[in-house]
Amino acid sequence: MTDRILSSESHDYEEQLELSLRPQKLAQYIGQPRVKENLKIFIEAAKLREESLDHVLLYGPPGLGKTTLAAVIANEMGVHVKMTSGPAIERPGDLAAILSSLEPGDVLFIDEIHRLPRAIEEVLYPAMEDFCLDIVIGKGPEARSVRLDLPPFTLVGATTRVGALSAPLRDRFGVHSRLEYYDEQSLADIVIRSGKLFDVNIDDQAAFEMARRSRGTPRIANRLLKRVRDYAQVIGDGRITMSLVKQALELLQVDPRGLDHIDHKLVRALIERFGGGPVGLDTIAASIGEERVTIEDVYEPYLLQIGFIQRTPRGRVATDIAFTHFGYEHPAQN
Ligand SMILES: Nc1ncnc2c1ncn2[C@@H]1O[C@H](COP(=O)(O)OP(=O)(O)O)[C@@H](O)[C@H]1O
Ligand SMILES: [Mg+2]
Repeated sequence: MTDRILSSESHDYEEQLELSLRPQKLAQYIGQPRVKENLKIFIEAAKLREESLDHVLLYGPPGLGKTTLAAVIANEMGVHVKMTSGPAIERPGDLAAILSSLEPGDVLFIDEIHRLPRAIEEVLYPAMEDFCLDIVIGKGPEARSVRLDLPPFTLVGATTRVGALSAPLRDRFGVHSRLEYYDEQSLADIVIRSGKLFDVNIDDQAAFEMARRSRGTPRIANRLLKRVRDYAQVIGDGRITMSLVKQALELLQVDPRGLDHIDHKLVRALIERFGGGPVGLDTIAASIGEERVTIEDVYEPYLLQIGFIQRTPRGRVATDIAFTHFGYEHPAQN
């Protein structure tokens, strides 16, 4: 499942590819105009005052550019970035070690910050607020607390589940930026930019075709481009044209709306076995042999977002758009 071509999570072997395609500066970071506009002002202001940037919380679905943006922020501030993640910090000492290794103004990036253990969060509060650490030394009656000063730093936290963040932690971020799914134009720009870095020729139309099938997600756009490029080199003359994109993506079972066989299985079951619903999630899950949570967390969000299915109190419903996409007439219109 992790190797699903349309997964918005990164595959294990993609790290190098992603690194090489990451924009370094805000000006190269495509799309997300509202987020960029705000950050630009905050960064300018912090530089003018010669202070560290306020703590920044980035949230939104996987693959939209949170990790990339954290590195861009550090670059724009002219500081180092240290990257870690919520589950990687197990003990307060781990966090203390990281924090005390920072230089003034540095960015500490904590990915999946909603998975930070509660005990670590407590250590983080004074660090974020007053740039200091309260450390307990010793055990039992001998134990005493010492206060350590830290250099001023910027915490950039990223999460796909902002609702899972505790309120006290959320409130300590001065800047909250929500990343949105990308529109077609932005994704096409990303494909063209990546094409240049890959040194491959892409027709404009072809770039848009890949953009339309990328589920609003740069990570998927780059992955499709990489697969199509392979195809172009083997089957074609290396140039990426519209017809080549169509052929390659058909082979990879990515349809014109960016749906794959799993999406098809789900929506078709809803239409063909349940007359378009409403039908309970558990019933759908049993009928296609998938886990309920997988459907809810992985398969369903995009289908909901593009309006192929709807959640109702009585269960899931396939919409007119879905019926049309699969070549059916909607029963209500008969
Ligand atoms: N705004 C953007 N402009 C250009 N490329 C982007 C942008 N956002 C993301 N990408 C590309 O998408 C890939 C995934 O981004 P990443 O920052 O790892 O997403 P996230 O951390 O939100 O899961 C990166 O390799 C990067 O090349
Ligand atoms: Mg990330």
